[in-house]
Amino acid sequence: MRTLITNGTIVTADGSTAADVLIDGETIAAIGAGLAGLTAADETIDATGRYVIPGGIDVHTHMELPFGGTAAKDTFETGTRAAAFGGTTTIVDFAVQSRGKSLREGLDAWHAKAQGNAVADYGFHMIMSDVNDATLAEMDGLVAEGVPDFKLFTAYPGVFFSDDGAIFRAMKQTAKNGGLIMMHAENGPAIDVIAAETFEAGISDPIGHGLARYSVLEGEATNRVIRLAEAARVPVYIVHLSAREALNAVRQARDEGLPAFAETCPQYLFLSLEDLGNGFNGAKFVCSPPLRPKDHWDDLWRGLIKDDLQVVSTDHCPFDFHGQKELGRGDFRKVPNGLPGVEDRMDLLHDGGVVGGRISRERWVEITSTAPAKLFGMYPKKGAVAVGSDADLVIYDPNRKRTISAKTHHMNVDYSCYEGRSVQGCSDIVMSRGSVIVRDGAFTGRRGHGRFVKRGTADFARLA
Ligand code: URP
Ligand code: ZN
Ligand code: ZN
Repeated sequence: MRTLITNGTIVTADGSTAADVLIDGETIAAIGAGLAGLTAADETIDATGRYVIPGGIDVHTHMELPFGGTAAKDTFETGTRAAAFGGTTTIVDFAVQSRGKSLREGLDAWHAKAQGNAVADYGFHMIMSDVNDATLAEMDGLVAEGVPDFKLFTAYPGVFFSDDGAIFRAMKQTAKNGGLIMMHAENGPAIDVIAAETFEAGISDPIGHGLARYSVLEGEATNRVIRLAEAARVPVYIVHLSAREALNAVRQARDEGLPAFAETCPQYLFLSLEDLGNGFNGAKFVCSPPLRPKDHWDDLWRGLIKDDLQVVSTDHCPFDFHGQKELGRGDFRKVPNGLPGVEDRMDLLHDGGVVGGRISRERWVEITSTAPAKLFGMYPKKGAVAVGSDADLVIYDPNRKRTISAKTHHMNVDYSCYEGRSVQGCSDIVMSRGSVIVRDGAFTGRRGHGRFVKRGTADFARLA
């Protein structure tokens, strides 16, 4: 099957150009002006007035994650389909090692959830709950299998928490095997003390979640793990960075020339502590780190502009308000942590970033696709519009407006954090390895089309 995309503006991290794109099978075969006159195609897509961009890459999702006494509702089928509607053609999800079990068992369980179900491509990171001689040895094998990143937590004592010694041991292992440690950086033990005091003082509504998880304790943990990585002589990647104090720690390290990297998420750019108010309705907005006061927004945008933040991913972890978030009625500490978002990332960032005049359209492509591809060992197979790259392409209308709503979204969750918000910019046609999987608001793909992406280790030299 040969598909020709004509008359569009190709937007990549490096620049924009008017050119046609020829797809042969699963990959991009040619890029140039006037290809229509030179070659035959089975289908021609006229992209006049629209962008041709590399499919979005969301490197932080949690499909079917068991958490907080329940499980995130999107499956690999519903979650990758919703991602596709939003212009995201690759996700990297977190497989989980359960305490006392091997990494292998956790990874196999995640392969079983995804294989034959995903509608678009997917990879895995590994959440390490136990760091011991056996799991350290297993890390090397996972790197070789294309799962080269490991998430550890200074948060969630009794669940995923690792102490500094365990984190340091895992980091030293990645110094040997080329993997990358991803850190959830909040001081969990201190937060638990404050959360208990907050609850005992009579605050049981979800706002207590935001009040107890001080931003200074995100800053402290971020600096600590960066310094542990410095001592271990390895790169480190901070996930879901929400607060100016944490950003300051990353910026300081980068100014010193350390290989510290970080992502933020749309919820920290567009939602705030105020959303956690409004009684128990605030449960819809409970995630960790929590939403911050609005005055953090400008710092995070500056971080994206200046490349102290390299990536925007979603931390997509959807729980229904009814029946799941409600587990925390009467005690904010029991609200399952996580927000839906995989479908809305590209449009929110286009609207708030590009249309809002904060970032260029090229930087938008970079933070949502190209930089994640480079950092997570998929470039230039993914994250590029280049000859030989996978034809994961989005025909994006930068002018079309839509209103975000749970009534129309495709995520398997009963509410939207952005209900009623109007955004400018929308994916018209979404292709995964040459197949059109979304066309003009209709799903045209197939369950099982999505493949596991065996990733390499990051080429940090290329990122410099
Ligand atoms: O609230 C969140 N972030 N839930 C998902 C788990 C995590 O820490 O990423
Ligand atoms: Zn986390
Ligand atoms: Zn997460």
